Amino acid sequence: MKKITAGIIGGTNGMGRWLAGLMAACGHTVYVTGRKTEMTGAQAAAISDVVVVSVPIAATAGVIREIGPLLKKGQLLMDLTSLKKEPVELMLAHCAADVAGCHPLFGPVVSDPAGHTVVLCRGRGDDWFDWLKLFFETAGYDVLERTPDEHDKMMSVVQALNHLNTIALGMTVAESGIPPREIGLFATPAFRARMAMVKKVFTESPELYADIIVGNPHLEIILQTYEKVLRDIHGATRAGSADALKDILEKTAKKLF
Ligand SMILES: NC(=O)c1ccc[n+]([C@@H]2O[C@H](COP(=O)([O-])OP(=O)(O)OC[C@H]3O[C@@H](n4cnc5c(N)ncnc54)[C@H](OP(=O)(O)O)[C@@H]3O)[C@@H](O)[C@H]2O)c1
Repeated sequence: MKKITAGIIGGTNGMGRWLAGLMAACGHTVYVTGRKTEMTGAQAAAISDVVVVSVPIAATAGVIREIGPLLKKGQLLMDLTSLKKEPVELMLAHCAADVAGCHPLFGPVVSDPAGHTVVLCRGRGDDWFDWLKLFFETAGYDVLERTPDEHDKMMSVVQALNHLNTIALGMTVAESGIPPREIGLFATPAFRARMAMVKKVFTESPELYADIIVGNPHLEIILQTYEKVLRDIHGATRAGSADALKDILEKTAKKLF
């Protein structure tokens, strides 16, 4: 496939570093920038065919507004943000070049691409989009094409609900007043695995999880559903018999599996 030059803004760490490594391994020329690199994002944008924005969610809008207007027709502006509607709209509004949204559905450390999916959202132009799709497929990733809104709706379940559930578990355990050391003595393997996830969300990069949840345009409906489900569970257990809860589990299993 066509060899290109890529400038990755936020390429010194995390997902940007992952993409930089993948592109370089495929023979493309890659420039990476961060806030402390000698090369600036603007300089990388001026000499790159493909310009990738991969900075923390809170900084993404500002970087797109700054870099977008520097790109010309013939270039591609893309991002790796975990949410897609706002970044793709901003890239289209602030840049005349081709635009594509991209969200790898995994973290920066990938030992084997098999079974890992990259979501692509069309923004503007087909040629670069087709190049990008082929790039990821050739590297062994599954590619799923969706609109930004379809992507964000799915992420309201896969990420926002999932992480909210983990946050609710961690907060409830903390507020139970039982000393964590004592809980640890009684932990089953399943509970230990859940608490490892609680530790990851609360301590590794809380800002990433908070931004993924709060920035999702479909959050409100998911939160309302979650609150209703908790009320339903509470109501079913209040009678003191397991029958009502068992009934809920059986009916829900029929919908899910
Ligand atoms: N982590 C994941 O599992 C994951 C998965 C899929 C998608 N994403 C998305 O990937 C994007 C990056 O997240 P990440 O987890 O890779 O973050 P990260 O590990 O914190 O890396 C952020 C990168 O951006 C640079 N940076 C930070 N602020 C900047 C600014 N204002 N201007 C220019 N560069 C800046 C950092 O370098 P300096 O600190 O040196 O400036 C670093 O290279 C986010 O949009 C996130 O939603 C993350």
